Amino acid sequence: MSASNNSYDPVEVTSLHPDEVARMRDEALAAIAGAASLADLKEVRLAHAGDRSPLALANREIGALQPTARADAGKRVGGARREVSEALKARQAVLEEERDSRVLVEEAVDVTLPWDRAPRGARHPLTTVAERMADIFVGMGFEVAEGPEVEAEWFNFDALNFLPDHPARTMQDTFFVESRTGGESGLVLRTHTSPVQIRALLGRELPVYVVAPGKTFRTDELDATHSPVFHQLEGLVVDEGITLAHLRGAIDAFVEGMFGSGLRTRFRPSYFPFTEPSAEVDMECFVCRGASVGDPDRPCRTCSSEGWIELGGCGVVNPRVLTAAGVDTGRYSGWAFGLGVERTLMFAHGVQDMHDMVEGDVRFTSAFGMEI
Ligand code: DAH
Repeated sequence: MSASNNSYDPVEVTSLHPDEVARMRDEALAAIAGAASLADLKEVRLAHAGDRSPLALANREIGALQPTARADAGKRVGGARREVSEALKARQAVLEEERDSRVLVEEAVDVTLPWDRAPRGARHPLTTVAERMADIFVGMGFEVAEGPEVEAEWFNFDALNFLPDHPARTMQDTFFVESRTGGESGLVLRTHTSPVQIRALLGRELPVYVVAPGKTFRTDELDATHSPVFHQLEGLVVDEGITLAHLRGAIDAFVEGMFGSGLRTRFRPSYFPFTEPSAEVDMECFVCRGASVGDPDRPCRTCSSEGWIELGGCGVVNPRVLTAAGVDTGRYSGWAFGLGVERTLMFAHGVQDMHDMVEGDVRFTSAFGMEI
């Protein structure tokens, strides 16, 4: 450090020599230009603009100069320090901008990515539709009854007045369950929900007002309109003074509850071993209401331009069935029906293909929402 004396010449003070000041400035500017990050720049700032930086130390020397020499040296050092501090500011701005745009890219959130990593499923629409169908009857005072899916042949056929040679009993329709030894077990996968009629009559006090939703099985190939596993809603009423008019009224109330009001229903004569008389029950097409019939310009996809949609079978319970279940036919009579759940889902929600109902794709199920 130079001492203060009258012959002091700043040129003689090494750190204040113009070349030296320029060197310190250039070194600082090079370090600033070379700072690749804000952290680097922080160190560069400390080294070249901090209290102990060469330029700061040189600055301190100025006070020790002769007053005449101070202005000159002060200008030089001050100019160098200003340049350094401006370069620092500029580099800081560039590095901050670089950091900001990098952060924008690195921390960007793709809002189109799936947000629900454990997506919740939904109850199958066949389940919810079957429950809604049953609920309409529960609203009329019916109870819900159940029976097993692996059923005794006697319940599935005999008690329902299917004679042993009835075509429905052949291998064509029925899944027979083998016994452990490979022979006949007397069990089948129930081909309809009608055996629950017998179970309800045997298990309950009269009068009986029940519906039985459930799974049924037949040896059909899966295609757009068939499935080896499907669902029915059985209904049975056995009471005193029961007539077909009550059946008609119950069916009308069901159609109104499921599809809306003002739709006509009709019964077409049919045959089932367990009902006499028997009928197929149709409802007016709720889309075209018959307007598509005979009008090629207005085809209806829902009813295939027939004007009517088939819902299922029904009839007055055959007294033989009541007798098989131990009911006094002199006192009691009843009626029954069997409605297709898949058909109801197809019509109520415009599902075109049975495959959608059985494939278990959650996108199909979720589309119906979480209906309880
Ligand atoms: N069990 C019949 C079937 O699977 C449907 C049926 C018809 C049920 C008439 C009934 C009925 O209760 O009365 O095709």
